[in-house]
Amino acid sequence: MKVVTTPREYQSLIADYQNEGQSIAFVPTMGFLHEGHLSLIDKAKKKSDIVVMSIFVNPTQFGPNEDFDSYPRNLSRDKVLAEQYGVHIVFIPKVEDMYPNNRMFMVNVLDRVDVLCGASRPGHFDGVATVLLKLFNIIRPDTAFFGMKDAQQLAVVKGLVESFHMPVTVVGCPTVREADGLAKSSRNVRLTDIERTEAVHIFKVLEKAKHDYEQGVLAIQSIQSTVLNELNRYIKNGSIDYVEVYTYPELNFQFETANQMIIAVAIQYSQARLIDNVVIEL
Ligand code: PAF
Repeated sequence: MKVVTTPREYQSLIADYQNEGQSIAFVPTMGFLHEGHLSLIDKAKKKSDIVVMSIFVNPTQFGPNEDFDSYPRNLSRDKVLAEQYGVHIVFIPKVEDMYPNNRMFMVNVLDRVDVLCGASRPGHFDGVATVLLKLFNIIRPDTAFFGMKDAQQLAVVKGLVESFHMPVTVVGCPTVREADGLAKSSRNVRLTDIERTEAVHIFKVLEKAKHDYEQGVLAIQSIQSTVLNELNRYIKNGSIDYVEVYTYPELNFQFETANQMIIAVAIQYSQARLIDNVVIEL
């Protein structure tokens, strides 16, 4: 596995692979790798010749009061895991390499961001879209892999690639879960024992709503209140940030013309904010 730290270094390395016609799959991360990331690498390996992973904790997607400084980092472990899982190139830039002119340019995302996490994290998706525009320009991937857990992020990335005509196929991959169903996340390590125990109900409640909708016993109009009531029964140590139901990936209410809908939930615990969702074919 090659470790590169500057865009220039990456571009001279990748030129040979591109000249040979090798396809490039990209897994962007902020590090502190868990099984969710590793499953993205597995998917990437199956689709391409070369797998590139980036590890970059992107400052522009954190708000002033968010956890940029305390975001979990463990670069040496990440490098070992990436190599074990078959990443060919890991790109670990510094902030000044990614933002050579500080914040001279930022992508301003105007749709799909005023709901779900975007509503309580103003500017977050501007930061995500900005860093991905930069990373896609540097890495030049044929395909890029994202987890469905961050469904709004995936919806924004799909819109970004379409809007800027980028020759990248964006692949959404199923959420990887603990044995009891909790979605894997770098932030799970911050849950207390009691929070961890009750957090298992988040996915159970979502799955039940999906099942009930598919069986015709739950109407779209009742999903939001039903899921909220169910979560209120179980979540005693966290606060429910939102339960929302939209078309996917458009994130609006035009259910009549949509192919999919999403039920998405966010719970704020003392040291961790958990998100999860289910997507349902309409
Ligand atoms: O999902 C993440 O880890 C980040 O938002 C991403 C896509 C790597 C952009 O910084």
